[in-house]
Amino acid sequence: MSRKPSVLITGASGEIGHALIARLAAADPDRPIVTLDLNPLPAASAANVAHAANGSILDTALLDGLLAQYAVEQVYHLAALLSTRSEFSPALAHKVNVEGTLNMLEFAQKQGESHGRPVAFFYPSSIAAFGLPDLGTKARAGKVAEDEHNVPTTMYGANKLYCEHLGRYYARHYKQLAAETVSGKVDFRCVRFPGLISAETVPSGGTSDYAPEMIHAAAAGKPYACFVRPDARIPFMAMPDAVDAIFRLMAAPRARLTRTVYNIGAFAPSAAEIESVVRAAFPRAEITTTVDVKRQGIVDSWPADVDDRAARADWGHAPAHDFGSAFGTYLIPSIRRRYGA
Ligand code: SER
Repeated sequence: MSRKPSVLITGASGEIGHALIARLAAADPDRPIVTLDLNPLPAASAANVAHAANGSILDTALLDGLLAQYAVEQVYHLAALLSTRSEFSPALAHKVNVEGTLNMLEFAQKQGESHGRPVAFFYPSSIAAFGLPDLGTKARAGKVAEDEHNVPTTMYGANKLYCEHLGRYYARHYKQLAAETVSGKVDFRCVRFPGLISAETVPSGGTSDYAPEMIHAAAAGKPYACFVRPDARIPFMAMPDAVDAIFRLMAAPRARLTRTVYNIGAFAPSAAEIESVVRAAFPRAEITTTVDVKRQGIVDSWPADVDDRAARADWGHAPAHDFGSAFGTYLIPSIRRRYGA
């Protein structure tokens, strides 16, 4: 019996998974989507999925079972503990974020060896891979390039930065001393996402969560205490543009890619600027500021913006939404409908 060519998504019940499954299913309804997550898939996603495995990326027996059943041609490895959550359980974060990624790279390598074609492996890294030492350096640095300030302060950021290297190792140097060449079976492709804001879901356990939390709370008519200073600034992106970027990077001819890891940006508002567009849309919004000095410290260590020229040149990164349109034409109208506000 031949195994079916398929796509595997880990962490499929999370925010990116939710948006990605819908787009993948629309793009190619005949290609089975297999998902792996500890949590059950929301009903909307489940309708588009051929096999929703309930379990952990640390369960290698489960991964071997999927390997035997499917000829996976693309892996979207989205499962992770985000930055705030990881600071409360660093050892668990390392297990999930690093060992879990190693398991998935091994899975992709074995898949590639068994069906003979490279497995395209999408890995979402993050602006958390950067670490600016102080606000003066952050202000002077402006748009940070991929290879600058790679000194993350968080467990999550360290995990992401290391896994970028692991992916490059599997793609180019895997078992380089073996008699036969076995590398080249994992086609590793990675972006460093900025904070993502979706109209349909809210994140959990991240440090950029103040932006999506503020807008969802305002639409739901709930008070919100923002945990960063008004001047806090990091890059953000609307979820549809994040999924577009995944599609563009995965569709790019390998030969066009000059890097394994790409910065991608869209807009970079301060918390005060976000608050002011949210207030303009929801004049009754109750937004206050109660700075959490420790989470603020993490945001301060992330760049104010990123230099994404390589992504634009190599594979056509071109977010449709700037700050105005992300809120004006995507977030505010969709969130209003969602909460009936
Ligand atoms: N948005 C993520 C977080 O805040 C960063 O990748 O953890």
